[in-house]
Amino acid sequence: DASDVEKGTYDHYMLKEIHEQPGVMRNIIQNYQDDNGELKIDKAIIDDVAKADRIYIVACGTSYHAGLVGKEFIEKWAGVPTEVHVASEFVYNMPLLSEKPLFIFISQSGETADSRAVLVEAKRLGHKSLTITNVPGSTLSREADHTLILHAGPEIAVASTKAYTAQIAVLAILSQVVATAHGKDTGVDIIPELGKVTTAITAIVDDAPKMEQIAKDFLETTRNAFFIGRTMDYYVGLEGALKLKEISYIQAEGFAGGELKHGTIALIEEGTPIIALATQEKVNLSIRGNVKEVVARGANPCIISMEGLEHDNDTYVIPVVHEMLSPLVSVVTLQLISYYAALHRGCDVDKPRNLAKSVTVE
Ligand code: AGP
Repeated sequence: DASDVEKGTYDHYMLKEIHEQPGVMRNIIQNYQDDNGELKIDKAIIDDVAKADRIYIVACGTSYHAGLVGKEFIEKWAGVPTEVHVASEFVYNMPLLSEKPLFIFISQSGETADSRAVLVEAKRLGHKSLTITNVPGSTLSREADHTLILHAGPEIAVASTKAYTAQIAVLAILSQVVATAHGKDTGVDIIPELGKVTTAITAIVDDAPKMEQIAKDFLETTRNAFFIGRTMDYYVGLEGALKLKEISYIQAEGFAGGELKHGTIALIEEGTPIIALATQEKVNLSIRGNVKEVVARGANPCIISMEGLEHDNDTYVIPVVHEMLSPLVSVVTLQLISYYAALHRGCDVDKPRNLAKSVTVE
């Protein structure tokens, strides 16, 4: 509860929570490791996840966006087919389920009514469930068969930041453990990789003034903004757009770079900000091609890329981390840019209009 958590030297909870992310990563590394440095997750959880022939991730908003990244881990590392669903849609339009489905509910609060409605139905059908939440003892945690805790500490700001990165980190660890259970060697040593992520996030929060400048340069007066990316970067773009719209009220949209030409490019005018993410080698050139297309129509491009990949005159270059984990780092730039955009537009950053921290109605 906000009354128990101090903002300390920060002007807003959101800014504090963004800055807490390196500490959250360290907490997760500590809590999911045993004394021998081996990954540690309850055997009962590993068994149930490893038994599943398909995983259904169900969540809302930012937690849904974390689920999209999680699907990549589970499929690419553990080799288990995975679907990600928006909870409020799933309730009314349930997909055909596999023979041995496992449900993963991702919820910072553990109280989201839309997600709970799916959990109730999954239980009625006799299926196994795992909740990944920041709140031990929350409704979704109590009602699911299993729980994994985010260890992010209380998140007060309506705009979720540290819970998103915590969700992705826990999903990465879970996927590695499930891969091992399936006898797969992913070639990824996740603990040191998360260590590199922690260092990279620290570098970005230390660079907050640069993000403030980017917010001023690209978002001070605009009425709209677009986020583009491909593969993992596309998912981060969706999260960047949600963050920006919920706190700054700028109409923002995230979409796959290749989709521009199928409609959205019609909206590009002189000066329209386009925030392009380029952290994935296999799509680095194609996303840059998309940037050229919008620049030719007058767009103002902000390119956020990763060291180690070919780049040229980019707006911000994040330190190099494992490609699959780049969302954990690139999103922090977008969180800070959104924060400063909202701040300079005079918005109530921690309590945006029309929104509640946990949505307990369907
Ligand atoms: C995030 O910034 C949002 N305020 C919102 O989308 C949130 O992620 C969503 O309501 C889900 O909440 P939960 O993770 O507590 O279930």
